[in-house]
Amino acid sequence: MFNLILFGPPGSGKGTQSEKLMAKYGLKHLSTGDLLRSEISRQTSLGQAAKGFMDKGQLVPDEVVIGMISSALDENPHATGFLYDGFPRTSAQAEALDKLLHLKKASIGVMLALDVSEEELVKRLLKRGETSGRSDDTNEQVIRARITEYQTKTAAVADYYHQFNKVVMIKGEGTIDEIFGELCKEIDKRINR
Ligand code: AP5
Ligand code: MG
Repeated sequence: MFNLILFGPPGSGKGTQSEKLMAKYGLKHLSTGDLLRSEISRQTSLGQAAKGFMDKGQLVPDEVVIGMISSALDENPHATGFLYDGFPRTSAQAEALDKLLHLKKASIGVMLALDVSEEELVKRLLKRGETSGRSDDTNEQVIRARITEYQTKTAAVADYYHQFNKVVMIKGEGTIDEIFGELCKEIDKRINR
């Protein structure tokens, strides 16, 4: 079972590249942002609890997202691998994921970290906000709050995987296909197909 973390700040292209990677490698895409937005649109109690944090650009509590990932892993016992997008986002989430994978005799294969400048992130997200309908894309203040959450709580997750030599930085600016090519090169070195 191949476990890939696609890492990077809001707007760095995780969702865009995940679509292409899923199609090429047949990995199961686990995006905590997408799972949370689905809970909100179905008006579940989990969704209602998460919405207030997301609208402000703040992280949802660890236990909520860890529970979602744990269920998703259990629901896909035959998956050949998983692509984590937007998770783990805190050191506690990273440690919890390691434990969940250990129970399944698996581990993280690699973390591919997209590097994009802050001004480019804001530009991309404001543009997407014109059409996405995502409440956290509509104003610059919330977008900047998401980036601050990333810098203060999430960036350290790369340090966590760094100690196990599992992080590869990828330039996240350029065309979508160029970046996809760089991601594939790194995956092909590690995946058994
Ligand atoms: P989440 O849904 O994960 O959003 P995010 O990390 O803020 O990132 P985005 O999805 O906005 O960006 P992306 O990197 O996927 O980029 P994309 O491909 O879309 O999280 C939302 C919220 O949910 C969080 O704020 C938090 O509240 C909560 N949450 C989620 N997970 C959580 C967790 N684990 N713990 C706690 N809370 C959690 O691209 C962005 C735009 O750029 C698109 O318009 C795209 O077309 C464009 N683009 C992509 N690539 C390029 C390129 N190469 N050149 C030009 N434009 C490009
Ligand atoms: Mg995304």
